[in-house]
Amino acid sequence: MLVNAKEMLKKALKEKYAVAQININNLEWAKIVLETVEELKSPIILGVTSGASKWMGGWNTVTGMINGLIKDLKITVPVALHVDHGTTIDVCKAAIDAGFTSVMYDGSHDLVEKNVIDTKIVVEYAKLHNVSVEAEVGSVGGTEDGITGGVNYASLEECKLIALTGIDFLAASLGSVHGDYVGEPKLGFDEMVEYSLATKLPLVLHGGSGIPDKMIIKAIKSGQAKINVNTEVQKAFSSGVRTYIEENKDKVGTGYDPRKVIGTYSIVNMKKVIATKITLFGSINKA
Ligand code: 13P
Repeated sequence: MLVNAKEMLKKALKEKYAVAQININNLEWAKIVLETVEELKSPIILGVTSGASKWMGGWNTVTGMINGLIKDLKITVPVALHVDHGTTIDVCKAAIDAGFTSVMYDGSHDLVEKNVIDTKIVVEYAKLHNVSVEAEVGSVGGTEDGITGGVNYASLEECKLIALTGIDFLAASLGSVHGDYVGEPKLGFDEMVEYSLATKLPLVLHGGSGIPDKMIIKAIKSGQAKINVNTEVQKAFSSGVRTYIEENKDKVGTGYDPRKVIGTYSIVNMKKVIATKITLFGSINKA
């Protein structure tokens, strides 16, 4: 069932686990995520960047595809369809109009005063449609889908200001990075506890790939209730295609069939990563 992410994250924060946001890129991606969480009886947030949405055809195509999969695969766990890093108000509105149930308005590129004003506009529009809203303060390092940022730690003041807009969960950047980490991640665990208590909001950890398990567990104990994972699933996909081609499987019989190219290793690899993350985050049987 498509739902917003508000209740699932409130419950996660209270019961000290995290719901995964797995970013999707195509039909096969969405399908394997949904099949895996249905088996594990876990709630899930499907993250879609503007770039991924364009790749798949647009916000309406994505909504239609996910609603269709939920129906055809008889998915019973709560699924939120979420815009990842919506960098303009219009992007968030377009996705909401198309049926997305959750949006991230990422105004972290602006001064906090403007970020607050714009986030508020998105919150007002989202509330009319029963859609949940995530905001970002500070900035996540690294690159995702062409959006590059430097690590910039969020301050308590910024968190308090943005919380007043009525958002449902908060990405307070505290050292995490999209893509590969150079060395050990330097996450601000003390600040997580402080900001979580001050705002009473579920926190969102971007850059969930490549963080050691011990740190993930500590982050969840410190108030992170949503953890975003993209890079590790992408790598699982591409390494599967690499193995398939390197083994020349595409040259045998009808091995060129895309369902075989993707289905033989990539889907299996992706499922393993998704199931491992869901298990680590503690959301099994929390649907
Ligand atoms: P990774 O690609 O580092 O897992 O980060 C995902 C993310 O934060 C999506 O917003």
